[in-house]
Amino acid sequence: MAKIFETHAHYDDDAFDGDRELLLESFSKNGIEKVVNIGANLSTSRATVELTKKYDFIYGTVGVHPSDIRELESEGAIEELETLGTMDKILAIGEIGLDYHYEDTDEFLQKKWFVRQMDLAKKLKLPIVVHSRDAAKDTMDIMEAEKARDIGGVVHCFSYGKEVARTFLDMGFYIGVGGVVTFKNGKKLKEVVEYAPLDKIVLETDAPYLAPEPYRGKRNSSLYIPHAAEVIADIKGISVDELYEITYSNAMKLYRL
Ligand code: NI
Repeated sequence: MAKIFETHAHYDDDAFDGDRELLLESFSKNGIEKVVNIGANLSTSRATVELTKKYDFIYGTVGVHPSDIRELESEGAIEELETLGTMDKILAIGEIGLDYHYEDTDEFLQKKWFVRQMDLAKKLKLPIVVHSRDAAKDTMDIMEAEKARDIGGVVHCFSYGKEVARTFLDMGFYIGVGGVVTFKNGKKLKEVVEYAPLDKIVLETDAPYLAPEPYRGKRNSSLYIPHAAEVIADIKGISVDELYEITYSNAMKLYRL
């Protein structure tokens, strides 16, 4: 059985409070070989560090998501993030980026802390996990200006079209693909998967969010990766096992393992 590398999940989320241990312990017999748990604010970054200590197969990232960015204005916050970023098994800074989806968005603060967290990644010599929604142009402009190509990383839960994908691929970034590729309205992402070179695609779930069909709307977990993998393998004209093998080695390179 091929090994699966889950590059983006949130197992600290309270959606898993009832069965976290049972679920995580079921992964190895289902081929889930490695999981990267993603921090999205200071408290989930701390929780991520704890998970990496508890489970051999769990690695982590620490960072503050654009929707929680205000907490980085507090004294000592960025210093704490730096300390967390130096811990064992912390592989990247993220998820960080821009999200203009909601009306009360503070674009100025989001940009400021996207840049500062990229600076932290440079300082710690770690790649970045980028979250970008409804903010393609600003994300690309800032990443160009900050020379993100020298940092490296992944644009997770890729939600833009081919043209935008080309810019990120040109910067050397990986494209994270998950459950959305199985959706009836996932045509744009299917086109991106078709366009992106196989050696630049990594598998992710964003669990507990974005469960694939036929579980759309339910709690997601890495156990559902095969549903997205089948669609991706089909688009690429390879077997699912080949896809697991290639994306495993891509993820090892992305996270420098
Ligand atoms: Ni996420």
